[in-house]
Amino acid sequence: MKTLSQNSMPIYEALEKQKLNRIVHFDVPGHKGGRGNKEMKEFLGEKCVKVDMNSMKPLDNLCHPSSVIKDAQQLAAEAFGADEAFFIVNGTTAAVQAMIMSCTKAGDKVIMPRNVHRSAINALVVNGALPVYVNPGINRHLGIPLGMSVADVKRAMEENPDAKAVLVNNPTYYGICSDLKEIVRLAHERGMLVLADEAHGTHFYFGDEMPVSAMAAGADMSAVSMHKTGGSLTQSSLLLTKIRSMRTIYVRSLT
Ligand SMILES: Cc1ncc(COP(=O)(O)O)c(C=O)c1O
Repeated sequence: MKTLSQNSMPIYEALEKQKLNRIVHFDVPGHKGGRGNKEMKEFLGEKCVKVDMNSMKPLDNLCHPSSVIKDAQQLAAEAFGADEAFFIVNGTTAAVQAMIMSCTKAGDKVIMPRNVHRSAINALVVNGALPVYVNPGINRHLGIPLGMSVADVKRAMEENPDAKAVLVNNPTYYGICSDLKEIVRLAHERGMLVLADEAHGTHFYFGDEMPVSAMAAGADMSAVSMHKTGGSLTQSSLLLTKIRSMRTIYVRSLT
């Protein structure tokens, strides 16, 4: 039985092993470990193109992970304090959209700040859910929009008790955090889910003197841009979830 620890690197280790196997490429990607595209190999470096590989048995498959990707996702969930972590390769846009579309359908309301990212608005356009906007207010001295005040979120909840979820930027593009813990408390009291857009908050999970992360605050799901403040390659992102939220979504789908 293999033992996993936070020092394990399942996907990295599988790729290294695959390199040593000196496989003759008969499948995609067409650059075939760099041999089929010398210019790209020179531009990105041989080390990089040699590990640009397709989903094959030893490397697992992101659509239904069962080995190294599954292990890596489990380690990520543990590191971020989530019950489950899903690797996202289409940017945090896809994670934000997965959060919204998994817990709302056409006509359902989502409370969100007016300065929400366009990925959230696009999710509403596609699935027909309705925004209940909360104005974030403005710091006139700095000329930047702020977070949502607890009082404004509470009012929106009282006026829209049928809202299915509250989406919170943790933090905003300008680094402003709302009182996430209190918003979680108010939302859960009313049976609403809390979705966090942590596109700019990866570092909240790895420092003592940081604002509270979504998972620590008890939020149900979070979209985390590893590629922004986490330092990974562009487009790599995480969707973090708590089992509790999955249960709520399942029960709602039955009614
Ligand atoms: C607050 C916020 N949410 C979501 C996104 C979408 O992230 P991505 O570019 O990884 O799709 C961004 C991107 O800038 C963002 O600023």
